[in-house]
Amino acid sequence: MYNRFGLSIILLIFILSLGSCGSLTVETFYENGAVVTSSPTASEIGLEILKQGGNAFDAAVAIGFALAVTHPEAGNIGGGGFALTYNAVTDEIHALDFREKAPGGATVDMFLDSNGFVAENSSLLGSRSAGVPGTVAGLFSLWEKYGSLGWYQLLQPAYKLADTGFILDQYLANSITSFGNELKQFPETKSIFFPENIAPKPGDRFTQKNLAATIQRIALDSLNGFYSGKTADLIVETMTKYDGLISHDDLNSYKPVWRRPVNFQFDSLDIYSMPPPSSGGVLLGMILKLLEPVDFSIFAPKSPEYIHHFAEACRLAYSERATHLGDPEFVDNPLDVMLSDDFLDARRELIDENQAGISHEIESGIPQNFLESESTTHFSIADKFGNLVSLTYTLNTEYGSKLVVGGAGFLLNNEMDDFSIKPGVANVYGLVGGRANEIVSGKRMLSSMSPTIALKNGKPALVLGSPGGSKIITTVAQAIVNISRFGLSPEQIVNMPRFHHQWLPDSLYLEEGGFDINIKQALIAKGHNIHERSRYSELMIITINEDGMKTGAADPRCNGSVSGY
Ligand code: GLY
Repeated sequence: MYNRFGLSIILLIFILSLGSCGSLTVETFYENGAVVTSSPTASEIGLEILKQGGNAFDAAVAIGFALAVTHPEAGNIGGGGFALTYNAVTDEIHALDFREKAPGGATVDMFLDSNGFVAENSSLLGSRSAGVPGTVAGLFSLWEKYGSLGWYQLLQPAYKLADTGFILDQYLANSITSFGNELKQFPETKSIFFPENIAPKPGDRFTQKNLAATIQRIALDSLNGFYSGKTADLIVETMTKYDGLISHDDLNSYKPVWRRPVNFQFDSLDIYSMPPPSSGGVLLGMILKLLEPVDFSIFAPKSPEYIHHFAEACRLAYSERATHLGDPEFVDNPLDVMLSDDFLDARRELIDENQAGISHEIESGIPQNFLESESTTHFSIADKFGNLVSLTYTLNTEYGSKLVVGGAGFLLNNEMDDFSIKPGVANVYGLVGGRANEIVSGKRMLSSMSPTIALKNGKPALVLGSPGGSKIITTVAQAIVNISRFGLSPEQIVNMPRFHHQWLPDSLYLEEGGFDINIKQALIAKGHNIHERSRYSELMIITINEDGMKTGAADPRCNGSVSGY
């Protein structure tokens, strides 16, 4: 409809809107495809694949591998993740689970010392913190089901970036430098990030020859290039050297799973998100459905009344996470009950519009410190065929276990920390867990990742997701409220300061610098324990209007970018 005169016209519509900080922002609409990732190089690679005629699924594969090279703190082939897909031909939405699994040798008390205490950092650092990686199998399954370009072709941009290197920008140089002490602990890791013991500088060329060779083995041999043969041998050798558990059997038997997404309605949006082993979709649904009947006419995006209601909905939703949710192969997740009107109507009765609840009175639990460390990465893609991909994948914390597989050049995750390593003891995100998420050999650990897609009037309307550990869910929920109730644009939404409550600890987290003293005092007067946080989540969002025009925004808190045509 925009290709008048038979020309391939790139239509850019510029709309000026007032950003949250009061500055004028420019929105660019793309007729064909749009890609939002946490790395400008990866966004351009995704765009190039779309321009070559590839679809959103092809672009997701190319981006997934490219981020493993350009965004090593979270992009990965040694971790795992989830994707939501919308196929325009079949009008179907599916959820792809390529979460890591506990190795066969894992046991329920593997991170406890002889006195039954959690051994410090044991689930976060080194070989035993790693689950069996799922990313390569997940991206391959995505390509096998929906890809249109060749697998080998899709991996070549990542291979070249690793082999010939790329110029380090300020963001990555700072990131590597700030994790220097941890990255220098293992010689395999130090030799990549601190060759000659020198911190990398912006402008340096960063090459990763071993990673390039691994990517090329995967390009040539697909799954066998990672889960068997040389790469698998190198993983097992590294495990042997560092007393790890991942075996050839674990690697050979790893399988991603296509699952039915969590689906619920909020206002006019038909929302699909990730089911267990992620808690993301069901908690997102609970939060939004608890809020749905609330009259927003007196609320503003930063008003204390809205923040209070949102926090109280989160308190109720997160209180269910610890008790009920876990890997569906091992645990019966009561999703239908958790999202039912009867249950949510009864829970909503507990919300007092003037007074914060008390988390211990809602469910028992032990408040824990809420440590500051999380790194995951999300990308959103919409193509000219109408397909969508919303993909979040991770090593867990920044640079995962900090352990690079010797000779293979990639970091292993530290996802074992997402299990409940001891009932009542919080993980790195301050989340407490119970038996549903205890460690069992071959089990997937519970996640908060929430890649999400929404339709409006049966048509694609929204692709979004975020890193941020437990804050992922509240970030995605706030984005949907900001669109549906406050009418904000993607650019305005990514610029909004965020807030978070997760039941335990009983604290309302406000993004530092985002809320003035009057807002804070009003929330304190309602009984909230306020804490400010500087690190926050990174929303990557694309919206699609009724004419199929796409606009996106990458979170200014990271190094992300939007590419489109
Ligand atoms: N590793 C963070 C999460 O999966 O939620």
